[in-house]
Amino acid sequence: MTNIVTISGSLRKQSWNTALLKACAALAPEGMKLSLYEGIGDLPHFNPEMDGDEAVAAVVSWREALRAADAVLVCTPEYAAGVPGSLKNALDWIVSSGEFLGKPTAVISASPSAAGGEKAHASLLLTLNIMSARIPDGASLRIPFISKKLDAQGGLTDPDMEKDLRLLLNALSDAVSSPQ
Ligand code: FNR
Repeated sequence: MTNIVTISGSLRKQSWNTALLKACAALAPEGMKLSLYEGIGDLPHFNPEMDGDEAVAAVVSWREALRAADAVLVCTPEYAAGVPGSLKNALDWIVSSGEFLGKPTAVISASPSAAGGEKAHASLLLTLNIMSARIPDGASLRIPFISKKLDAQGGLTDPDMEKDLRLLLNALSDAVSSPQ
């Protein structure tokens, strides 16, 4: 079984991005399981002086979740033309511990607006690349007008988006089965 940890950049209960990750779980190909990691809101603000302090349970849990996963899928909104602070904070906790090093990682940004969160998307790719995540070809997607592509139950209503999500999951699966 290929285990994918999914991370939403939104802490909002009614988040489109979180709903999208839940919908992706249902699209996973045979042999792939997606599990949503819901702890990034529990992380303290990153402080290098606290780094390495094993007493911070939320940090230990976050690092363990990444370490245990074969691959990662991040889906984020854009806030003020950037990555939401909670997600950037979570990533900053991984700079020294290195769980993203070589880890197959897919990146989605979804926004109700036409640009699909392009600035957050670009910024997130920059951060993950500097952390040496492995972002396979086809594992990066911007989704505009997300509020028109999910129904009230979080079901997918846009066949093109569904196709793109399936391709992204396949790209992640291929990367896991062909280590570099
Ligand atoms: C936003 N939103 C937004 N959207 C966008 O495309 N570019 C942006 O720069 C911003 N900036 C921004 C700042 C703040 C403080 C908020 C609250 C919202 C709108 C955002 O995309 C929208 O609220 C999404 O629904 C948030 O994603 P979730 O929570 O639905 O996943």
